[in-house]
Amino acid sequence: MSSTAIMKNRVPSLDEIIEARKGKAGALLGILEDAQGLEEHRYLSEDTLRRIALGTGTPLSTVYSVATFYSFFNLAPQGKHSIVVCRGTACHTRGSLELLETALARLGIDGFREDECNSITSLDAFASVRTVACFGQCALAPVVEVDGTLHSRVTVGKLASLISKLGKGGDK
Ligand code: FES
Repeated sequence: MSSTAIMKNRVPSLDEIIEARKGKAGALLGILEDAQGLEEHRYLSEDTLRRIALGTGTPLSTVYSVATFYSFFNLAPQGKHSIVVCRGTACHTRGSLELLETALARLGIDGFREDECNSITSLDAFASVRTVACFGQCALAPVVEVDGTLHSRVTVGKLASLISKLGKGGDK
């Protein structure tokens, strides 16, 4: 069965995703991306990584290396909403640390250590806050992505407004 045929009919299982893609160029990246999309909380569990390694005949260490190299992949359950703050040089010099602190405070998230990890999820799983090294939009710094939409020249006030529009405790 082709991957196109699978996608048209229904959500495929992990085994079907692996079967449809394995052996093709770029298969591992595509399988990881699709596998993450299957999971309600958009992450790759250890069990999923093991099944992908087994199903593709790829060493688990390789699968794990790819999953940890790309910031797109999450190895822990993610919140309903996603806020990604760019912490590259251009954004940093234009106030991205204050934006990061604003996001964490507004979402009631304590204990984020930027030097130890790049993401954290609120205890109520309402949102995850993540940092990235650069969005490639440095001329528009500081840049923040909220639920997949990039926002440029973000101020503390604008970010606070964006977060309140998420409707903490309810739907958008
Ligand atoms: S440093 Fe933030 S977009 Fe490049």
